[in-house]
Amino acid sequence: MALDRKQTPNDLDAFWMPFTANRQFKKSPRMFVAAKDMHYTTADGRQVLDGTAGLWCCNAGHCRPKITEAIQKQAAELDYAPAFQMGHPAAFELANRIIEIAPKGIEHVFYTNSGSESVETALKIAIAYHRARGEGTRTRLIGRERGYHGVNFGGISVGGIVNNRKFFGTLLAGVDHLPHTHLPAQNAFTRGQPEHGANLADDLERIVALHGPETIAAVIVEPMAGSTGVLMPPKGYLEKLRAITKKHGILLIFDEVITGFGRLGAPFAAQYYDVLPDMMTTAKGLTNGVIPMGAVLTTGEVHDAFMTGPEHMIELFHGYTYSGNPIASAAGIATLETYKEEGLFERAAELAPYWEDALHSLKGLPHVIDIRNSGLIGAVELEPIAGEPTKRAFSAFLNAYDKGILIRTTGDIIAMSPPLIISKAQIDELIGTLAGVLKALN
Ligand SMILES: Cc1ncc(COP(=O)(O)O)c(C=O)c1O
Repeated sequence: MALDRKQTPNDLDAFWMPFTANRQFKKSPRMFVAAKDMHYTTADGRQVLDGTAGLWCCNAGHCRPKITEAIQKQAAELDYAPAFQMGHPAAFELANRIIEIAPKGIEHVFYTNSGSESVETALKIAIAYHRARGEGTRTRLIGRERGYHGVNFGGISVGGIVNNRKFFGTLLAGVDHLPHTHLPAQNAFTRGQPEHGANLADDLERIVALHGPETIAAVIVEPMAGSTGVLMPPKGYLEKLRAITKKHGILLIFDEVITGFGRLGAPFAAQYYDVLPDMMTTAKGLTNGVIPMGAVLTTGEVHDAFMTGPEHMIELFHGYTYSGNPIASAAGIATLETYKEEGLFERAAELAPYWEDALHSLKGLPHVIDIRNSGLIGAVELEPIAGEPTKRAFSAFLNAYDKGILIRTTGDIIAMSPPLIISKAQIDELIGTLAGVLKALN
């Protein structure tokens, strides 16, 4: 009998869901069975407006024909090719197209399958880069409080999320953290980049003085921290980090897994903020979220440091079975073509002021203690219920879903990042519905 995926399965027990309140979900499942452009269809036939581009990834909206067709065609033509010591054209073509839209100075692409793997890859490249150049003492990695760099050991070590420290042990040794840049007392309700906090980058000088620059391989930050609550970099902050890292020979890695591919109205945050890192980690919007794929983008200098020694030798002892998978590569090419043909990055930039005004119209509603935005991303921070953190925002999420909008919550912060194809009327619908949800919230 053919599997009818439109029906809710009769047993939800086997699937242990990621980052999900499993018991709550299984008592009251929320199932999507189809999607098109800005909407999901639920198992009970309702339309839900996507306020989060899936998980910050479907930047061109859902089930876009060009991407679907590219995947179908590639699957029928060349399904898989070995990723090591063999190639296929689509992976090279995609790399060239990524470099076309990347900041000047970024010249090479190393494929992974996810944001988490991009982070691990970049950290490994950073350490190996210094070894290749004869600076093998540079092994230390610096992250930032409230940083999210995926779920693997390197990423949770440089990340700054307390639950990872509570649940997963001692993590990597030799890691230090910059302070986070969230200063609500000075910056609440700022539109775009906040005024206060650039000086927090100076803490890197303290860490360098403590350990010695010759021990530090890299600093990794999200140029705009997404998953811990949409925290914009204070004005001048990223520039300072760049200057201090450069001064001490430390690589700077921007984790652009969320900010890459148009989220801020430029191809990458590096261009939006006009700060060039040595490496950028990407995933999500690279294939419009449709097929798992990530990529680490590096400068020519980082790449070229490895291109020494006998030519038959592998230069970087790293890679994944699915690095540059043909179907993912085809999806990536079709995705970048869709962004370009429809001018979606420019569209995001044009819509940003409208988005900003709509979001900030929520100021003054019950429990709202801060609103932040840039490009087509925004956050509404709620006062937590005393003694029950996350509960208020989770209620908002459930009520919003019932009322036909998909939002995302992290702690007591509501985060939104709609597909870049959203219309002004849909922005009004999203924010208007959210306003209703907030007014009704306990
Ligand atoms: C900045 C950042 N890095 C890494 C990741 C991890 O990506 P993935 O879930 O694809 O492993 C995420 C996911 O949200 C992210 O926002």
